[in-house]
Amino acid sequence: MPGETVGVVGESGSGKSQLFMTVMGLLAGNGRASGSVRFRGREILGLPAPALNRIRGEKISMIFQDPMTSLNPYLKVSTQMTEVLRLHKGMDKAAARARAVEMLDLVRIPEARRRLDMYPHEFSGGMRQRVMIAMALLCRPDLLIADEPTTALDVTVQAAILDLMADLKREFDTAIVLITHDLGVIAGLADRVMVMYGGRVIETGTVRDIFYAPGHPYTEALLRSMPRIDADTLSELPTIPGQPPNLQHLPPGCNFQTRCPYRFERCVAEDPALLTVDPAKGLARAKACHLDRPAVEHPNVDHPAVGYR
Ligand SMILES: Nc1ncnc2c1ncn2[C@@H]1O[C@H](COP(=O)(O)OP(=O)(O)OP(=O)(O)O)[C@@H](O)[C@H]1O
Ligand SMILES: [Mg+2]
Repeated sequence: MPGETVGVVGESGSGKSQLFMTVMGLLAGNGRASGSVRFRGREILGLPAPALNRIRGEKISMIFQDPMTSLNPYLKVSTQMTEVLRLHKGMDKAAARARAVEMLDLVRIPEARRRLDMYPHEFSGGMRQRVMIAMALLCRPDLLIADEPTTALDVTVQAAILDLMADLKREFDTAIVLITHDLGVIAGLADRVMVMYGGRVIETGTVRDIFYAPGHPYTEALLRSMPRIDADTLSELPTIPGQPPNLQHLPPGCNFQTRCPYRFERCVAEDPALLTVDPAKGLARAKACHLDRPAVEHPNVDHPAVGYR
């Protein structure tokens, strides 16, 4: 929804980036996508490139996880930033440059005017990430997909970027998909959460649902493995035993079965579908688990996870 932030969590390799590359129509040539992607009521999965290009960059933009591979090393940052504005917004060169400098200022690139004409390799890793963020925001997209936008940044810049995203959402009603490993960031910024495991969405809910009453055993274990500032420092941090599944050889049945403390016969035989646990909310509150039990009250109830600061 406009103005809404959806957080996407799940361990490394669970398919978070892959899912949203698919949404953007950026799946590798040998990749196959099924299902449906609707943007403002319109099906966009499988749209031909020219139609997609009218949406990408202007209406939907993505901050990629790896800024070095998504900035063109041969082109000055100015060229890469102004191209989008001239193409989508019909701005002349001077106006596009002014807007680019304004965006670089906003993401706290020092001496933005001078740096605009530098090449990507002349920026540090964290600065490149900020350049990517500035590029994604140039056209004030309706939907921003941010894939680990702050992982390479130190905490003060991280907080500034997250503030910037919170402003966008307030001022321009930008809808944000925020992919991150950091549950604290999710708690501070997201309205709804999608938890992924083994290439699939295994639980959805509001931040409250997910943090206070997780329904899927994986979500429950993920929250337990989060360090807590009030915990007894001598007690060991719980971990999830075992390894994530190999997505090329998935076991029959539930992807999480080999690591799940609640496994029973049905989990081995049958892949659980993502089903609602609250008919009033539909798939907005759902889990993919055969276990029929009420959501567990999570200890975070007493000490809610703190925001990103
Ligand atoms: N739905 C899927 N079907 C088939 N293969 C998948 C699927 N999702 C992910 N994969 C495979 O798993 C690999 C890792 O997925 P991806 O890069 O999306 O993980 P991630 O959750 O973004 O991890 P990280 O947190 O490390 O960025 C992909 O390169 C792809 O090969
Ligand atoms: Mg990723």
